[in-house]
Amino acid sequence: MIYKKVKRIDEQISALGVGCWNFGGDWDSSEDSNSDRIIHAAVDLGINFFDVAPVYGWYHSEEVLGKSLQGGLRQKVIIASKCGLLWDENHKTRNCLTRKSILEEIDGSLRRLRTDYIDIYQLHWPDHNTPIEETAGALQEIKAAGKIRHVGLSNFSQADVAAFEAIVPVDCQQGLYNMLERNTSSYHGIPLEYKTEDEMLVTVRRMGQAFLPYSPYMQGLLTGRFTKDRKFSSTDIRNENPKFFGETYQKYYAGYERLQAFADRIERPMNEICVNWLRQNDAVTAIIGGASSLKQLEANVRAMNWDLTGEQLAEISEIIEPFRYM
Ligand SMILES: NC(=O)c1ccc[n+]([C@@H]2O[C@H](COP(=O)([O-])OP(=O)(O)OC[C@H]3O[C@@H](n4cnc5c(N)ncnc54)[C@H](OP(=O)(O)O)[C@@H]3O)[C@@H](O)[C@H]2O)c1
Repeated sequence: MIYKKVKRIDEQISALGVGCWNFGGDWDSSEDSNSDRIIHAAVDLGINFFDVAPVYGWYHSEEVLGKSLQGGLRQKVIIASKCGLLWDENHKTRNCLTRKSILEEIDGSLRRLRTDYIDIYQLHWPDHNTPIEETAGALQEIKAAGKIRHVGLSNFSQADVAAFEAIVPVDCQQGLYNMLERNTSSYHGIPLEYKTEDEMLVTVRRMGQAFLPYSPYMQGLLTGRFTKDRKFSSTDIRNENPKFFGETYQKYYAGYERLQAFADRIERPMNEICVNWLRQNDAVTAIIGGASSLKQLEANVRAMNWDLTGEQLAEISEIIEPFRYM
């Protein structure tokens, strides 16, 4: 494993982390025993970073991760969880970052994760109905109580990051970032308030924060999991991503095909190219990739064994240029 170090965080962080969303059962399917195997194998392979959230699988991902990390593993890893997305009985989510809600959410996450501290506690999405001072104050409060070690912001504008930083140190940022979504303006139809490459990465470098790119494989499109007319099972969360439908999908798919042709030419698997394109960027800390099988996880870790050359990186840049702002 290759490890990264940022100014704001003491520990070395594995360049590849595990995104735990698909352990919750919102994707095609997931068996807890399979998720448990993936978590244990990840630690054995040197991965020390797990990203999770209460909303993933409606609490289930946190429960699975907490259970798997029992027996001495918890102390060896960095857990990044989140708060700020609540849901109703129909699983319709809403953003809420009030003090009261955060104080309740943190205790629930600690219970499900079976731990008494969370290493990085991230605000999942902005809540523009709650003053930043109130939210930042609540984060300060739970940090002072030892319940969290670092604050992270996920999907926030850089102006908001600065406003939070004035009250509580923001040590980590998380944003949508992969070869075809570099400064994209939406995620699952939700407008994004940041440009990842042009804005977020600039702040991260300047402030010495950790940066966690999410959806590094564009939910599987970039690993060759999809076909041109990919259909998801009715329960798959990817049905809610408008980028996977119609003309937009055809454009992204054409981008994937050009990258796949490049991968074939250099005789490297696409999943490893996704990992290395991110890993070789000095602003990127832990790539939080999802893996639905042990085989996928192991395949992604194999990217640590080689680097893209300068020439290959330049070739990729040329292929993905049309996607700079898509
Ligand atoms: N902060 C946020 O708002 C936010 C939003 C989204 C995600 N996230 C975080 O980011 C993590 C990862 O993002 P993501 O799950 O959206 O997308 P992703 O990591 O881009 O894609 C994961 C999917 O890619 C496929 N895959 C992975 N490795 C593969 C391999 N070696 N070969 C073939 N296919 C492979 C699998 O698809 P199949 O399941 O079809 O096999 C897997 O489920 C999440 O778990 C979560 O922790 C955060």
